[in-house]
Amino acid sequence: MGDRPVAFVTGSRTGLGRALAEDFLRRGYAVEGCSRSPAEWTADGYVHHEADVTDESAVTRLVLDIARRHDRLDVAVNNAGGASMNHMLLTPVATLDRLLATHVRGTFLVSRECAKVMQHRKSGRIVNISSVAVPLRLEGEAAYGTAKAAVEHLTRVMAREFAPFGITCNAVAPAPTDTALLRGVPPHKIEDILARLALHRMGRPEDVVHVVAFLTQPASACITGQVIYLGGA
Ligand SMILES: NC(=O)c1ccc[n+]([C@@H]2O[C@H](COP(=O)([O-])OP(=O)(O)OC[C@H]3O[C@@H](n4cnc5c(N)ncnc54)[C@H](OP(=O)(O)O)[C@@H]3O)[C@@H](O)[C@H]2O)c1
Repeated sequence: MGDRPVAFVTGSRTGLGRALAEDFLRRGYAVEGCSRSPAEWTADGYVHHEADVTDESAVTRLVLDIARRHDRLDVAVNNAGGASMNHMLLTPVATLDRLLATHVRGTFLVSRECAKVMQHRKSGRIVNISSVAVPLRLEGEAAYGTAKAAVEHLTRVMAREFAPFGITCNAVAPAPTDTALLRGVPPHKIEDILARLALHRMGRPEDVVHVVAFLTQPASACITGQVIYLGGA
């Protein structure tokens, strides 16, 4: 078994996932990441997998590969995701299906497979990325907010089911943050969301990185089943 802790970050090709992967590398982890397209960046200690988190056999293969090469898995961050902003009357059901698949099915599959590996060492940290769209009950984000609400519920149930294996499960819910996810959202819509937060400023990737780093420390072993909302939602 390697001495170096191992983190798996989904959706690490871009945005928050990349920032999270780079922070784990800075903190001495070996980092495994995935997305559906090839990575646009490389780093020592980072391995990128082309895998869709909604594909059960791809997820199973990927996590087995991580376990075989490292013989341990310390952290899994369910970050992969997409969004859609539209009135429900204009939202095709295919959008709902896609968002539920990526956020809920993906988080379920990745967490289940990672917990199987983590349980051997009676230790692990799972962090799911939610959104302030849940507590703000954002209009125009019925499909996205519903998918993230399910992720929060899954987080709380996993916290109970995985506690006997020494695995904590928590979620971090970012405020609007300047990544590809927000491209295409009109600026006045983002301003409206920011106006409903206690902090009227855009989120920064490092806001999310900071909380994930805190939750994944060994000293955070008694924090589980929690959702941390950023920006004062
Ligand atoms: N930015 C914000 O304002 C904000 C606010 C709240 C919450 N969030 C959440 O933060 C997370 C990261 O989003 P981001 O802002 O960093 O957006 P982003 O830059 O668009 O990143 C999303 C990443 O997920 C990957 N991905 C999407 N579907 C996938 C799938 N089925 N399987 C594997 N990888 C997949 C994408 O790569 P491929 O396209 O190559 O698969 C991409 O690397 C998401 O869960 C999002 O809902 C973001």
